[in-house]
Amino acid sequence: TNQHSPDVVWHQHNVSKKARANAKGHRKPAVLWFTGLSGSGKSTIANALEQKLFELGYHTYLLDGDNVRHGLNKDLGFNDTDRVENIRRIAEVTKLFVDAGLIVMTAFISPFRSDRQLVRQLHAVGEFIEVFIDTPLAVCEQRDPKGLYIKARAGEIKHFTGIDSVYEAPLTPDIHIKTDEMDIDACVSVILQYLQNGEYLI
Ligand code: PPS
Repeated sequence: TNQHSPDVVWHQHNVSKKARANAKGHRKPAVLWFTGLSGSGKSTIANALEQKLFELGYHTYLLDGDNVRHGLNKDLGFNDTDRVENIRRIAEVTKLFVDAGLIVMTAFISPFRSDRQLVRQLHAVGEFIEVFIDTPLAVCEQRDPKGLYIKARAGEIKHFTGIDSVYEAPLTPDIHIKTDEMDIDACVSVILQYLQNGEYLI
C-alpha cells in the first residue's frame, strides 16, 4: 500500500516481466547501474554497451542526465537532498523499465552508498547490477571534458563531487571497471561477458 493513499494497491499484471523480456529476445530483464565520478566514463561506456546490445538485437534503454535531469528531475540540483531524490526517482523509473522486460542502463554519479543499496533492494535479486566505473579523480580532473573541475577548483561550482562533495565508491560492485587500464571496447566486453555468464542474454 501507499503511505499517503492507503487505498492504492499494487495491481498484479497478467503479463509477467519475464514474459515481456522473452518477447524482447532476452532471458531476464536487468538494470546495469553505472556509478562513478563526473568524467569517469559512465555515459561513454554505457552508450558503447547500448550500441553493442542493440546491434545484437536486444531491447535496451539508457537513462542519463540528458533525458532525466532536463525532464523528470529538472527541479533538482546538486545538494545532498536533491541527489538523494534524483536517485530515488531514477530507481523507480528503472523498476518500471525492468518490469517492461528491458535491459536498462543508468549513468548517474549516484555518490551515496546507501542510495545505491536502496536501489538494489527495490529490485529482485540478480536484476540490479552495480557497475563501478573506477577512474581516479586525478584522471577525471585531467580529462575534464566539460571544464567543470576547473570551475569547481576555482570555487565557481559548489558541492562538486570529488572536490567538495563526497563520492562513496562501491565496496563490492558486481562489475569493477578500471578505465585507466582498459580501452572502451575492452570495458564493453567485460560487461557483455558478465551478462552472458549470468544468463541474461539468449
Ligand atoms: S548525482 O550525484 O547522481 O545526482 O549526479 P548526476 O545526476 O549524475 O549529475 C552529474 C552531472 O551533472 C553535472 N554537474 C555536477 N556533477 C557533480 N557535482 C556537481 N556539483 C555538478 N554540477 C553539475 C556534471 O556534468 C555531471 O555529469 P557527468 O556525466 O557525471 O560528468
